[in-house]
Amino acid sequence: MILPIYLYGQPVLREVAKDITSDYPKLKELIQNMYETMDNANGVGLAAPQIGLPIRLVVVDLDVLSEDLPEYKDFRKVFINAHILERSGDKEDMEEGCLSLPGINETVPRKNKIRIRYQDEDFTEHTVDIEGYLARVLQHEFDHLDGKMFIDHISPFRKQLIRKKLTNMIKGKVDCTYRVKSVK
Ligand code: NI
Repeated sequence: MILPIYLYGQPVLREVAKDITSDYPKLKELIQNMYETMDNANGVGLAAPQIGLPIRLVVVDLDVLSEDLPEYKDFRKVFINAHILERSGDKEDMEEGCLSLPGINETVPRKNKIRIRYQDEDFTEHTVDIEGYLARVLQHEFDHLDGKMFIDHISPFRKQLIRKKLTNMIKGKVDCTYRVKSVK
């Protein structure tokens, strides 16, 4: 089932999300719905707060990039109770967008290496080092779990330039191809 994506302005996007346990109700169905919602919106990642749930659950699909980045062929993964333990390496600039901020793309500086801890669908715990494009995507998605969005990382000047778009978004004045849920 395709779920509406919560837009900028929704308080749930500013909450610090909580860990869950394996008895979380209908978890398999929820993960399936998140994949469908992400695919329908042509996203490469979706965090549970973006569908209104303040829990630490993220789905990622990088297969769409595999023509240029073959290491991501069939890369489709769920991250449960995800946390970033460490950021290292160099800072790199890259343009980002977000399904909760349709029509906005800004250059965001991020470190290019991270160490993360998460649980997979069987609730087996993993601690892994990640770099490259996946490190970028996971920092963006895991930010959502800490109540942050990518526009928090841009300069006050750039933020001023998108202020009007943000105001319209809160009013539900957006143009996008997928179902959304705005504040008003
Ligand atoms: Ni996002």
